[in-house]
Amino acid sequence: MLKSRFTRIGFILAASGSAVGLGNIWKFPYITGENGGGAFVLVYLLSVFFIGMSVFIAESLIGKKANSDSVTAFETLSLKNGHRWKFTGLSFITSLLILSYYPIVLGWVIHYIYLSLTTLPSTVQEAEGVFLTLLKKDYTSQVLYFTVAMIVVGYTIAQGVKSGIEKFNKFLMPSLILLLIGMLVYSFSLDGFSQAFTFLFLPNFEKFSGESVIIALGHAFLTLSIGMAIILTYSSSLKEDSNIFQSSVIVVIMDTLIALVAGLIVFSILFTSGAQPSQGPGLVFITLPAIFYEFGSFGNVIAILFFVSLLFAGLTSSISVLEPTVKFLEHRWKVTRAKASYYTVFAMYLFGMLSLFSNITEFNEMLIFWDKKFFDWLDFITSSIMLPLGGLGVAIFVGYIMDKDVIKAELLPHMGVKLYNLWMFTLRYVVPVSILAVMFYEVG
Ligand code: PHE
Repeated sequence: MLKSRFTRIGFILAASGSAVGLGNIWKFPYITGENGGGAFVLVYLLSVFFIGMSVFIAESLIGKKANSDSVTAFETLSLKNGHRWKFTGLSFITSLLILSYYPIVLGWVIHYIYLSLTTLPSTVQEAEGVFLTLLKKDYTSQVLYFTVAMIVVGYTIAQGVKSGIEKFNKFLMPSLILLLIGMLVYSFSLDGFSQAFTFLFLPNFEKFSGESVIIALGHAFLTLSIGMAIILTYSSSLKEDSNIFQSSVIVVIMDTLIALVAGLIVFSILFTSGAQPSQGPGLVFITLPAIFYEFGSFGNVIAILFFVSLLFAGLTSSISVLEPTVKFLEHRWKVTRAKASYYTVFAMYLFGMLSLFSNITEFNEMLIFWDKKFFDWLDFITSSIMLPLGGLGVAIFVGYIMDKDVIKAELLPHMGVKLYNLWMFTLRYVVPVSILAVMFYEVG
């Protein structure tokens, strides 16, 4: 069968495109701010490099070896009981559900690009009003942006691995990196830079707690896009001779560097204007726009660069959440790629409306269950329950179920015995314990 496959660089860009997203530029800075800075960053780095990377390598291994959709992958790679293990591959449903709300947030980013081109709110109070109006009242704009984002996602995936995913990422990822470098250089010139640097890299345990550890661990999973069959599916389009250990290390480093650079940029801007780091989720959509305004017309330029970076990062992640479902429909149900892409996007577009309208005050009565909006339920169920379960499945499958000779043949030549043993130990013991801890904490 002739299949389109990633080139080496194409895979690295696509996988980092998925990993680097709103999580890196929006969420990482605000959770770091809330948890006091340096000490949290340290624990986050340990979680990403130790636990996250181990699962990433394992998921990539499953994908490359099976060379198929996620369900077939678990079915064929298990030594016995394939008919049961195939259910682990249903983790692609997590990414499918995320497809219904992640592009809504991307829509907010598009709105902020528009605001940066026109007028930014001049005070934090005004900025709060602007954001809440968009979120709770302005469904026309939100539906419009959501529609545009979904069309881009559907179209890109319909083009296939090489001319869709690879091409898209080959343009957007280098552009994102250039934008971030530009803004980083600008932050060097700001008065707040040294304070931002100390805040991020000098461990400070004042606001750090047991909860911070759990948040760091949970974010390590989300930020690497593991546990939802994305990395598995992308890896199934790798060439036979690719070195998955090396590509995993590069992607994890890239994801981490980009989060740290985003943190430096955001905190330099914040400290320059004397704002507090612990602003929560509103940091990027409320606090920053008001500061950009203070910077005068140059502030508009920085605002545009900032929100365009956020858009690029979010787009490459959004396309990655569609691919696992499309691959599944293509392989198992023999649907053509184009049909699979457009039908899935359309279904999730309609389903996503429930999330979108659950934020709109005028309509949301029917969309709030047990005090949580539909939007927040989906976020909670996917990131706090399904995602950790998916990661657990990958770790247990590679740690205990898959043929060790197959794993060794693939990884030993690249990792060496010591590193391989450490990795296996992490998968078998450290990952399951940490995931269960995160889940009990978040659900309990
Ligand atoms: N890794 C992405 C980020 O950091 C998050 C993501 C979640 C990506 C779900 C795809 C799907 O933003």
